[in-house]
Amino acid sequence: MIWTSKEKASLRRLLLSWYNKQKRDMPWRQTSDPYRIVLSEFMLQQTRVDTVIPYYERFISAFPTVHTLADADLDEVLKLWEGLGYYSRARNLHRAAMAISREHNGSVPEDYDSLFALPGFGPYTTAAVLSIAYAKQHAVLDGNVIRVLARLQANEKETDRPAMKRALQHTADELLNGKRPGDHNQAMMELGATVCKPRNPVCPTCPIQRHCRASARGVVDRIPRKSSAKPRPERTYAAAILRQHDRYLVGRRKEQGLLGGLWEFPSREVDTAPRPDQICDTVAAAAGVNSVAHRPFRTVKHAYTHFTAVVHAYQCDWVAGEPASDEHDRFEWADEQELQDYACSRITRKLVVALFDDRSQTILDLDRHKERMA
Ligand code: ADE
Repeated sequence: MIWTSKEKASLRRLLLSWYNKQKRDMPWRQTSDPYRIVLSEFMLQQTRVDTVIPYYERFISAFPTVHTLADADLDEVLKLWEGLGYYSRARNLHRAAMAISREHNGSVPEDYDSLFALPGFGPYTTAAVLSIAYAKQHAVLDGNVIRVLARLQANEKETDRPAMKRALQHTADELLNGKRPGDHNQAMMELGATVCKPRNPVCPTCPIQRHCRASARGVVDRIPRKSSAKPRPERTYAAAILRQHDRYLVGRRKEQGLLGGLWEFPSREVDTAPRPDQICDTVAAAAGVNSVAHRPFRTVKHAYTHFTAVVHAYQCDWVAGEPASDEHDRFEWADEQELQDYACSRITRKLVVALFDDRSQTILDLDRHKERMA
């Protein structure tokens, strides 16, 4: 323990009175509905508040209750999640809603073990939901709280090590405000997001600066320290935008694994950027159909947590064969409208947008050409 009881009481008081005055308006702060709090906490994992708000509102309009979410198709859920990333959150949320609706009569469980047993509920989400929705005594530890606590203690050890996480959880538990645990947790996260920021923290406005050892020692910028991050490897893919009349072949990835349930153009990982004459082999391997390749279309990049994907997309024409692969559970030949309606990964969406932008550009160019000729 590093604080006396008096210091802890002072820390809690200062933090909560700051939160009462400064807290940002968020739609999930105007409800006591545990389902809505679950939804907000799933969306807020790894994602900023400003990004989450419009997604949250659309989601609540589409699925106002846990039963409506439980009865929805995963396709619909993923479509509403499109662009938010980390799609396992959406798949887990959907499965958790089914369990809550069917096994808990639609009530979000109030005890730690039942909640923790649901898909997608780790220590963070379980503590956040129990404290915010039910005023239970569980302290949250997310990236923001880790930073605030490590700085308060001037702890220069590497914060991403399991032993350090356990120690910080212990500190967070000790500091928790017994009367208003939900507000206390949200205040800690809010302080980390708006004041005790990773870069350029605004210490003079911090309500608990007088208790901060890092600030007193002038070492705020050095904390938290992380074990040296490995560079993110790059993976190369060949993708085929395969056309048959005005329809394009897309496959839905099997539910398990990265981007599960999302629709994409057939693709395969390759060692180096493919040559045009290699694309037809890729199409055959990725979707089991014969094709002729036309031209390179676009190269798009996207950084996932553990790697960066570089996708070289080609336009091809279907020749023969029924689509099939071991990575997808469905294939469709989708027209322009259907491609808008399917839930796609960021990379696929970039390709879809470029595909129809390009086409409208070609039509515009043709129109201009006709005007000049007239
Ligand atoms: N980050 C995750 N959950 C949050 C919440 N309820 N308030 C502020 N930041 C958060």
